[in-house]
Amino acid sequence: MSVTVIRRAVCPGSFDPVTNGHLDIIGRAADLYDEVVVAVLVNKNKSSLFTVAERISVLTEVTAGYGNVRVDSFQGLLVDYCRRNEIPVIVKGLRAVSDFDYELQMAQMNRGLAGVDTLFMPTNPEYSFLASSLVKEIATYGGDVSSLLPELVHKQLLARLAELNAGPDPR
Ligand code: PNS
Repeated sequence: MSVTVIRRAVCPGSFDPVTNGHLDIIGRAADLYDEVVVAVLVNKNKSSLFTVAERISVLTEVTAGYGNVRVDSFQGLLVDYCRRNEIPVIVKGLRAVSDFDYELQMAQMNRGLAGVDTLFMPTNPEYSFLASSLVKEIATYGGDVSSLLPELVHKQLLARLAELNAGPDPR
């Protein structure tokens, strides 16, 4: 009797919002594994521009073309999510040496905690400076971030910022 082993990996993150840099890593992971789960962290302590449901919805849309990527959310420890979903590998993009220290620490901790390994992928140099936080800051002050995001995400970002600008002045 032959047993089919599904090679599964997770790409975790906040994805607030998903950028072309994230998509590059997700797409390359999708080439390497049978199934890739994009897992959105539910973090009640961190304020976000988009709700988890909005992030899941947009991620589902922009990754639909890969065919072997599904999107989910998780709370708590990533390794617990991995254990529950039988995922042995975390895939992370490394943009620069500055990412490495913290990522290495988390990778070693996750392996020590639960035997879950981490695969580091060098980010495409085109996106080595790219971070969701920077994209939000630049867009807030009217900078052009259209080349850094999927078109749908760019539209949603501009719409969300316009909504916030139209709201009551909190001061
Ligand atoms: O996109 P981000 O915010 O840089 O992603 C960070 C993320 C979600 C990958 C990381 O914070 C994480 O794994 N959080 C889950 C909580 C956890 O497992 N913490 C222990 C890490 S050793």
